[in-house]
Amino acid sequence: MTARTIRLAVIGGDGIGPEVVAEAVKVIRAATAGVAIETTDYDLGSQRWHRTGEILPDSVLAELTAQDAILLGAVGDPSVPSALLERGLVLRLRFELDLYVSLRPVRLYPGVTSPSFGLRPDGLDVLIIREGTEGPYVEAGGVLRKGTSDEVAVQQSINTAFGVSRVARYALARAAARPARKLTLVHKANILAYAGDLWRRVVAAQAADFPDVSVDYCHMDAASMYLITQPDRFDVIVTDNLFGDILTSIGAVVAGGIGVAASASINPERTAPGLFEPVHGSAPDIAGLRKADPTAAILSAAMLCEHVGLGAAGTRIEQAVADDLVERQGAWAARSTPQIGDDIAERVAG
Ligand code: IPM
Ligand code: MN
Repeated sequence: MTARTIRLAVIGGDGIGPEVVAEAVKVIRAATAGVAIETTDYDLGSQRWHRTGEILPDSVLAELTAQDAILLGAVGDPSVPSALLERGLVLRLRFELDLYVSLRPVRLYPGVTSPSFGLRPDGLDVLIIREGTEGPYVEAGGVLRKGTSDEVAVQQSINTAFGVSRVARYALARAAARPARKLTLVHKANILAYAGDLWRRVVAAQAADFPDVSVDYCHMDAASMYLITQPDRFDVIVTDNLFGDILTSIGAVVAGGIGVAASASINPERTAPGLFEPVHGSAPDIAGLRKADPTAAILSAAMLCEHVGLGAAGTRIEQAVADDLVERQGAWAARSTPQIGDDIAERVAG
């Protein structure tokens, strides 16, 4: 195999974050024999903030930008004011690195029970593509007369033809490569007339270049129900930042819970490293107890491998996770975090 080095930034973060990313790194190494994986640990999260007041110093951002990929455990702790780390670290990375595609597969693996009644193990494979740099996540707006009974808060949603076109093109290309070749735009165009209309027109215009992909539209509220009751209506979904945040949380539960929900925030043109993280949070109540399920972090690592050009390793990791999930048969609590990592690493190394 040709010698290759992958520079991997590892941000364990808070709570169970460091435990689960350790297992993900273990599995990446097992899956990529012959590739040099150079990891750098970054101390970011609530402890650094308490110690230094820093969330993401510019110098650290510059170093992260030079890496091939970033693996993040979780940030957040009850001792830190709400939203500080989420905005200052996770959102800042998505915005500064221009990670405009947030990929969140909703796939039910055999052996995993979905709370959605009647779903067969092979009956759910939806790819949700959430726009990552616009919408209400842009801090546009302002507040007047704060703290008074006359307070006014304006929170705007920013939607650009540029931003919507690029995420639509990516989603169309992903749909074109799948057997069902179907893309659903999810929005709330009946009410959010300006933004919804822009999304509909721009997606339709881009779709002209993908004649094999059928494109339809579904309102966000209806999509929330269908994802639970009739997920086979969907193949690839493209949606706005906030709708995507909500819909992918529903998707995570439908696909068996946050123990297995993975995510990737990427710039498909690879102008910056992607950010790969489990959907779950830092779960401070079980931190350090070796009880956390590292599966979501490991599946995020599979997406990381795929994004940095190690697709075969990514596929092997996903298969190893799938095999491991089949054998669990409900015995989720029986193994410690490192044991699950070891078992999956062993399968990957085969
Ligand atoms: C997610 C999270 C983030 C979001 C937070 C942590 C900024 O909920 O990744 O889904 O809102 O996008
Ligand atoms: Mn979320």
